[in-house]
Amino acid sequence: MRYNVKDFIFLIILIILGTVVVCYAQPVNLLEIKDEYYIDKFGPYKMPSVYFSHDIHANEYQISCKSCHHIYKKGKNIWTPEDHEKTCTECHNKNKAEAINSYHMKCWGCHKRLREVYHLADTPTNQCQKCHIKPSEVEKERKRIQKKLEKKNETLFKIIQNLKVKGFY
Ligand code: HEC
Ligand code: HEC
Ligand code: HEC
Ligand code: HEC
Repeated sequence: MRYNVKDFIFLIILIILGTVVVCYAQPVNLLEIKDEYYIDKFGPYKMPSVYFSHDIHANEYQISCKSCHHIYKKGKNIWTPEDHEKTCTECHNKNKAEAINSYHMKCWGCHKRLREVYHLADTPTNQCQKCHIKPSEVEKERKRIQKKLEKKNETLFKIIQNLKVKGFY
């Protein structure tokens, strides 16, 4: 049997279609923030670890990567996705409080601000268990986020895009 250009193109299309299907079928991923660097230095977590959806933040509401990730050089944030190996506490580690604050200030800062301008925003601050999720609750949470991702809150989305313009983050 001889292969010609048409067969080849057909094969490529099949591969692309296959990839698309697999991507769509994939369940939403929750990233467990288990900061080994923190644990080595300050001992085991007291709370259950945080399970966090990059999808909700970066895709659904298009919050830029650099509003959370940063490497500052002369006051400018020069982070690129290749710098992802560095965990937050590799830099924010003078003491335990600084390490915890670096996370809380980042996450709560935006969450609190959003609730001030839109009280329906589901952006937890002092409801600890909405971020620190018990292992037995993770699967339930994953399903809940998956449902949420199917239906974007357009009002909230517009608010976030506006805040972005005004230089909030
Ligand atoms: C709302 C905040 C936030 C946004 C927005 C965000 N990230 Fe993250 N990301 C985090 C946190 C927190 C961690 C865990 C950091 C740690 O381990 O210290 C993380 C971890 C990562 C990791 C390593 C873990 C993994 O999943 O492999 C990569 C890679 C990454 N982010 C890439 C990105 C990229 C690319 C974007 C933009 C498309 C982005 N992030 C947007 C907060 C964010
Ligand atoms: C490469 C080192 C480095 C890494 C990695 C890093 N930071 Fe920072 N971070 C800094 C520096 C430097 C500043 C600015 C000056 C300062 O506060 O010392 C800063 C500032 C901050 C601030 C204050 C306000 C702001 O946003 O600029 C917060 C909150 C923060 N970082 C949280 C985080 C979180 C959360 C992560 C992980 C997703 C992280 N940092 C990763 C070095 C780092
Ligand atoms: C720049 C803004 C911003 C930052 C920074 C941010 N978030 Fe969020 N967060 C959001 C928005 C927007 C939502 C979606 C709210 C909604 O669906 O009503 C959200 C929702 C959540 C939810 C609830 C998910 C749900 O739908 O119930 C969790 C948990 C969460 N964020 C964790 C984190 C963590 C952990 C960090 C810090 C690493 C973080 N967020 C940083 C904007 C932010
Ligand atoms: C918006 C999400 C969010 C909320 C809400 C939140 N935290 Fe955290 N917290 C984090 C992140 C992210 C970390 C760092 C990584 C991790 O612990 O998984 C952290 C770390 C911690 C740590 C250090 C690690 C440990 O377990 O010892 C403590 C203590 C802590 N949080 C306590 C609290 C308490 C108490 C509340 C409620 C008042 C709370 N957090 C609410 C996101 C959150």
